[in-house]
Amino acid sequence: MTADKHRLRTRLVHSGHDVETSRGFVNVPAFRGSTVLYKDTASLKAHNQRFTYGTHGTPTTEALAAAWSELAGAAGTALVPSGLAAIAMALQTVVKAGDHLLVTDSAYFPARRFAEQVLRPFGVETTYYDPALGARVAELIRPNTKAILTEAPGSQSLEMQDIPAIAEAAHKRGVCVVMDNTWATPIFFPPHERGVDIAIEAGTKYLSGHSDLLLGLISANAEWWPKLHAFVDLYGIPPGPEDCFLALRGLRTMELRLREAERQALALAQWLETRAEVKRVLHPALPHYPGHEIWKRDFSGSSGLFSIILNPASDEAVAAMLDGLELFGMGFSWGGYESLVIPFDCTTYRTATKWAPGGPALRLQVGLEDLEDLKEDLARGFARLTAAN
Ligand SMILES: Cc1ncc(COP(=O)(O)O)c(C=O)c1O
Repeated sequence: MTADKHRLRTRLVHSGHDVETSRGFVNVPAFRGSTVLYKDTASLKAHNQRFTYGTHGTPTTEALAAAWSELAGAAGTALVPSGLAAIAMALQTVVKAGDHLLVTDSAYFPARRFAEQVLRPFGVETTYYDPALGARVAELIRPNTKAILTEAPGSQSLEMQDIPAIAEAAHKRGVCVVMDNTWATPIFFPPHERGVDIAIEAGTKYLSGHSDLLLGLISANAEWWPKLHAFVDLYGIPPGPEDCFLALRGLRTMELRLREAERQALALAQWLETRAEVKRVLHPALPHYPGHEIWKRDFSGSSGLFSIILNPASDEAVAAMLDGLELFGMGFSWGGYESLVIPFDCTTYRTATKWAPGGPALRLQVGLEDLEDLKEDLARGFARLTAAN
């Protein structure tokens, strides 16, 4: 299937199909296996058949990677067992001892921990930068800077980034742009078309859509794909076959689920803006949100994850609100069919920017429940918050 022949929804339904491999069945099955048999000594010695060993790929991983490359507009996609592993592999493909790395201050926190606790001891220095810098990130590029890690919008705090401007500044100096594109997915933000060299996606979120698998996808443009492919292959860490099978299944309905998450989350965000208990709603699709113009220019949609800042309240009052919620579960991850909420605080680790929201911060993952039920759950929570404050 060629990416330019059909429209997005058609591609999501048909990409990665290989009727021959699945013997006529609609879905490519979960191939399990380490050993692949060779037909003779010549092919064994030449290692030249389509599949050679389980860690190098199976028909299931091949179908998923091909479908994702088509969706992301990438030259190729590597699959790893989690989103965090995808970040780690992407960065390690680019930086080596003696190199310098720029990381947005708004990055997913474990990416930062990876930079500090793995890359730094191996001789890679990291500088954190203000996500709002845009093209001015160029001022932080040193002769040994090899990569810029971006994420738009930022984890939990939702700051937008001007990715095309960052990419232009980076490419003028031969620097590779890596992006965590998990929030928008390639459906709402085509990373490589916008100048990203290597994009990662935690398939754990919207590709799964059901909170039942862990997966990382790393897509790359033509320049970076051979290097990424060779590097990831060295590690021998393929994702589980069942997770790849479920991810392929999730891909078929991903656009529908994302569109519904967008609709629900935006409506809830607008309702939260009217609530006296809420000081600010952090959602890039809201017209007055800083960075909204960048979102409008570069993204074709918003997903179901956003944050709110409450008016000042005690920890006990926030706990009273959250502990009594019936529909919003408390737990990490997002992108599933169920609504979630977590309190968060970025003050302890930010270095390039100051996180001072002026009240308790909550991240909401809006699921597919009836919106009125979700509002009522939160309204009862707000009543508990006020009573306990
Ligand atoms: C923005 C972002 N990137 C990456 C990850 C990591 O994904 P995984 O949980 O599959 O390691 C997460 C997980 O919460 C995330 O929120």
